[in-house]
Amino acid sequence: MKRLGVNIDHIATVRNARGEFHPDPFFAANYVKKKGADSVTIHLREDRRHIKDLDAKKICSIKKLRVNLEISIRDEIVKNAIKIKPDFICIVPENRKEITTEGGLNLIKNKKKLKKIINMFKKKGIRTSLFINPSLKDVKISKDIDVDCIEIHTGSFSSKVKLKKNYLDEFIRIKKCSILANEIGLEVHAGHGLDYRSTKILSKINEIKEFNIGHFIIGESIFFGLEKVIKKFKSIIK
Ligand code: PXP
Repeated sequence: MKRLGVNIDHIATVRNARGEFHPDPFFAANYVKKKGADSVTIHLREDRRHIKDLDAKKICSIKKLRVNLEISIRDEIVKNAIKIKPDFICIVPENRKEITTEGGLNLIKNKKKLKKIINMFKKKGIRTSLFINPSLKDVKISKDIDVDCIEIHTGSFSSKVKLKKNYLDEFIRIKKCSILANEIGLEVHAGHGLDYRSTKILSKINEIKEFNIGHFIIGESIFFGLEKVIKKFKSIIK
C-alpha cells in the first residue's frame, strides 16, 4: 500500500496573507488525517514564510498523526526540529529567494554535516529522509550517509507531464533510482509538483512507498474540497 502525505504549508500561506488565525494549519492537520491522509508534511523554512514554530509544535502533538517535518541543515533549524519532536524529518536544500524547493540536496558538499545530523536524529528516534535528485550516484551516497529513506525530487518529471512533453527519460531515471534504493535498503518517497496525472504515472513504480503532495492538493481543494481531492489521490495511488 502506498501512502499519501499531504503538505499543508499553503494553508499557512493563506493564513499569513492576513496575519491572523484563519485558515488554521493545526485544524487542517487534524482534518486531512480524518479524511484519509496517511501523514502530514510541513516545511519549517528558515524565513518562516508559511509554517511557524508554534504550528509545527502543535501539529506534532496531535496523537496518532504521522508528521513529516521538512527542514534545511542550518544549525538553528536543526536544533528547533529536535525540540519539535516530529516522527520523520526530510532534509531539503533551501535557498532564501526560491519560490519552492528547486532541486535535491548537494550530497557531496554536505556529506559530513548530513551524516552528523542524521546520526543525531537516529539517537532521538526520528527517521530521516533526504530530498535528492533522481540520480543513481545520489542514491548510493544516501546509503553511505546512513539515512533511512530518500525522497526523490519529481519536479522535472512533473513539469514535463504538465507541459505534455516526452517524460519517458525522467520516468526511467526515477524508476531506476527507486529500484536501486529499494535494493540497498532505503525506503523510497517521491514528491514535488505532482498532480493527478503525474502521480498516476509514478504509481506504476512499485518501489515508491509514499507520495508527498502539497500545492496541487490545496489548489484543487479550492474548487472541489480537501476531502474529495484526498480521496481521489488515495484511489490513484492504491
Ligand atoms: N516534498 C518536498 C521535500 C518538498 O519540499 C515539497 C515542497 O514543499 C513537496 C514534497 C511538495 O511539493 P508540491 O507542493 O509541489 O506538491
